[in-house]
Amino acid sequence: MPIQNTSPGSERNIVLTGFMGTGKSSVARELAHMLGREVIDLDTEIEKNAGMSITSIFATFGEPRFRELETDAARQAAQKRGAIISTGGGVVLRRENVEALKASGIIFCLAASPETILKRTSANRERPLLQVPDPLAKITEMLNARGPCYMESCDYMIDTGGKTPKEVAQEIQGKLKIG
Ligand code: S3P
Repeated sequence: MPIQNTSPGSERNIVLTGFMGTGKSSVARELAHMLGREVIDLDTEIEKNAGMSITSIFATFGEPRFRELETDAARQAAQKRGAIISTGGGVVLRRENVEALKASGIIFCLAASPETILKRTSANRERPLLQVPDPLAKITEMLNARGPCYMESCDYMIDTGGKTPKEVAQEIQGKLKIG
């Protein structure tokens, strides 16, 4: 039976947080397919609103401006009902983002080891924060710094290591049924 018809909280958004390369976008697409819901990808919304790529926003205006645009996009997305919201890895850094998203739905944080993240992210150059000489060290450092933010802001933490996006989406679906 489709999830959206099974509980009184059916209009809640499903929010995916987690570090870069933990699979948020692919899991969001799987969930949308399984549940028949719309996906809102915050990075895509930021790019649409700014009329430029994330890489260009960082290069032209810097990270602080990107974080402002991210907060605008998070606020807009939190107005939605019944959507799957895929966030950027740094959305948990601002309390106001987390508060808006939490008020709008249930938060699943996707996790993976630094090695898995490196494998999944090394193929493309679209993540400005990982364009450094030693990306594994950078990933490890950022995971350590951000760990508490991910933990504290989510309702469920899901390890994605060695799992396909479909398997992760099924795990989330299972939690929605009992939650
Ligand atoms: C960022 C993650 C990226 C993107 C930006 C900053 C971060 O999104 O928002 O490059 O600070 O972790 P993904 O997590 O979708 O890669």
